[in-house]
Amino acid sequence: MSSHKLPRNVPAVLLARLAVADDSKGQGLGEYLLMHALDAIVTTAATIGAQCVVVDAVDAAAAGFYEKDGFLPLTTNPLRLFLPLATIRQA
Ligand SMILES: CC(C)(COP(=O)(O)OP(=O)(O)OC[C@H]1O[C@@H](n2cnc3c(N)ncnc32)[C@H](O)[C@@H]1OP(=O)(O)O)[C@@H](O)C(=O)NCCC(=O)NCCS
Repeated sequence: MSSHKLPRNVPAVLLARLAVADDSKGQGLGEYLLMHALDAIVTTAATIGAQCVVVDAVDAAAAGFYEKDGFLPLTTNPLRLFLPLATIRQA
C-alpha cells in the first residue's frame, strides 16, 4: 500500500454568484458566462496556483447545469461542485 496521502487542502477558485436574470434564461447566456469565466481561470491558474474550480449551486437544477459541463458534486455536499483545471485544459 502506498504511503502517499491525498492532500487535505487543494488551492481552488470559487465561482460565486454566476447567474442569469429569469427573463433571459435559456438563451445560452449562462453557458457563455461560464466559458468566459473558465477561460479567464485557465489563463491565470498557473500564476495563482489554482488546481480546481468550485461552484456553489443555488439548487439541484443549477447543479445540473454545471454537471453537464463536467463539474462533479462533492459527496459531502452535492450543491458544491468542482472541476479540476486538468480537465478544463483537456477540453
Ligand atoms: C444556471 C444558470 C446560470 C443557467 O443559465 P442559462 O442562461 O439559463 O443557461 P444556458 O441557456 O446558457 O444553457 C446552456 C446549456 O445548459 C443547459 N441547462 C440550463 N439549465 C440547466 C439545468 N438546470 N440543468 C441542466 N442543464 C441545464 C441548457 O439546456 C443548455 O444546454 P445545451 O447547450 O445542450 O442546449 C441560470 O439558470 C441561473 O442563473 N440559475 C440560478 C442561479 C444559480 O444557481 N447560479 C449558480 C450559483 S451562484
